[in-house]
Amino acid sequence: MPRTLGVCYYPEHWPQSQWATDAAQMKATGLTWVRIGEFAWSLMEPTPGTYDWDWLDRAVQTLGEAGLKVVMGTPTATPPRWLVDRMPDMLAVDASGRPRAFGSRRHYDFSHMGYRVECSRIARAMGERYGRNPHVAAWQIDNEYDCHDTTLSYSDAARTGFRNWLAQKYQSPEALNLAWGNVFWSMQYESFDQIDVPNLTVTEPNPAHVMDFRRYSSDQVVAFNRVQVDALRPLTDAPLIHNYMGRTLTFDHYKVGEDLDIASWDSYPIGFLSDRVEGTAKEKQTYLRQGHPDNQAFHHDLYRAVGKGRLWVMEQQPGPVNWAPYNPAPLPGMARLWAWEAFAHGAEAVCYFRWRQAPFAQEQMHAGLLRPDSTPAPALAEAAQVAGEIDDMPALDATTAPVALIFDYESAWAWDTQPQGADFEMFRLAFAAYRALRRAGLSVDILPPDTSDLSPYGLVLAPGLMTLSDSLRAALATYEGIALIGPRSDLKNRDMAIPLPMGPSLPDTDVTVVLTESLPPSDKIKLQGGGRFRHWFEHLEGTAPVHLSTKGGQPAIMGGDNLRYLAGWPDDDTFDGIIGGLCDAASIPTLQLPEGLRVRDTATTRFLFNYGPKPVTWNGTTIPAAGVHWEALP
Ligand code: GAL
Repeated sequence: MPRTLGVCYYPEHWPQSQWATDAAQMKATGLTWVRIGEFAWSLMEPTPGTYDWDWLDRAVQTLGEAGLKVVMGTPTATPPRWLVDRMPDMLAVDASGRPRAFGSRRHYDFSHMGYRVECSRIARAMGERYGRNPHVAAWQIDNEYDCHDTTLSYSDAARTGFRNWLAQKYQSPEALNLAWGNVFWSMQYESFDQIDVPNLTVTEPNPAHVMDFRRYSSDQVVAFNRVQVDALRPLTDAPLIHNYMGRTLTFDHYKVGEDLDIASWDSYPIGFLSDRVEGTAKEKQTYLRQGHPDNQAFHHDLYRAVGKGRLWVMEQQPGPVNWAPYNPAPLPGMARLWAWEAFAHGAEAVCYFRWRQAPFAQEQMHAGLLRPDSTPAPALAEAAQVAGEIDDMPALDATTAPVALIFDYESAWAWDTQPQGADFEMFRLAFAAYRALRRAGLSVDILPPDTSDLSPYGLVLAPGLMTLSDSLRAALATYEGIALIGPRSDLKNRDMAIPLPMGPSLPDTDVTVVLTESLPPSDKIKLQGGGRFRHWFEHLEGTAPVHLSTKGGQPAIMGGDNLRYLAGWPDDDTFDGIIGGLCDAASIPTLQLPEGLRVRDTATTRFLFNYGPKPVTWNGTTIPAAGVHWEALP
């Protein structure tokens, strides 16, 4: 699979006289792809039912003739004003019951059936126009589902859809009452029409009610996406893609991914460090201009799974963004490092966002490959450098990683719904486990929760899984490597209730969580031999052997040779020790890496990425700050 670069371009932002020059310069930079169209509905269809394709025809032609391949975006993240005026109830409603207003983007409601019809119509019209155009070689559907918190809506459309969804799932109000435990606080319903969306209640709504609403809302994203897939499939053979976001868990990405050909994501390492990755003040300062050394890798690994092996980065940060609390510039070299890191993790294409910085509107402070005055911005030369390097690049054949991490969206909703401890969050827990694996120099595969074959892996981590799926439980029963399950795994059933007998229910492993504590940041549970749990501690009982204990003599890890249950949330040093011990037991080699250096192995090549602000030495080679090094694997 060749590795390629691209860029996001908005022809509608620039005079047509500039398009050919832009296209030629993109080509000269070594770019292959150019993504266009995804916000341009009001130009494609200026008035209802009247299409204007002339400008887009010319844009596609100009870019294609320059030798670029077009990724055509459907514009459904930006429904135009006339459409909102025609169906004002298509606006999403926030948790306080306020409709979201026109004037930016993503103001639609996933549940609104009329809007879905409009999306199908514009996607079909675009497919008819460009589906067989030789220059259009891929499609992006919509743009960043859930961006600006847009998955959940408490609208009339959502209420109607939710009631129907519940009626189909439970068939009778009695069954729903039983499953949800509505006898608690006199919450029984006599009819599905009495059930509301779970906002504006006096105190927390029933968690089972919230969980079903979260599932319903996720299903609407899947259905919304599928409407456009169905419109485009018969009209094009080009791959269909969506650009997911970082740390966005409100819908089941695996399910959306089933309908698409490639998963892509939008990688803004420095924006994310400031905005949505936990870290100490020291870490935030150390990686201020590089991004967190594990955040990009985590998402590459996750979206490779969502894409069933096919991954792109559809938007790559090129310089300062406009949307994080603070927006520093990348260290020189990072725009190159991020691209190579994506390739090493299996990305087929990396597209920088955006070609030229816009001098107007919301994102005018967001850097591009060119400055607003068309002078090259620093990332342009780095993109050109990567493009040059691709020609003599090392082999990038995919391989199975030695370790796997199971990651589940439904569990993220469960712990949002009932966190029990203020800092218990699924991403945070899974990312803590992932970071420990990466600090040990391991390449990681992320697996969905219904995985049925763990046999390629020597070590599997399954933190925070609400309920083990039947297929995963079956896979664990015959697993010959080491699986570390927990904390907070398999302790609820799908109705968000505590199962009886209490969990976890691990094959041939007698361990039960009998009591759960969440801990404020000031407290910790010390472990024998050093180390500590923070945030979370479960009291275990059972006859399974104890592998690790607390200083107070309680079990911290229990289980057999293969299946072990972890009773708490280890801090970073403790996680390192636990992973080191498990890797030794599973005969998986680990590495002692200098701080900030990270590794990713393909079948034959080891890539090293220096996220640190200073040079580091590895095997006699000095890797500069923001440097990339690769070597053949022995
Ligand atoms: C992404 C989005 C782009 C642009 C970019 C700015 O979230 O898809 O359209 O807004 O962020 O960083």
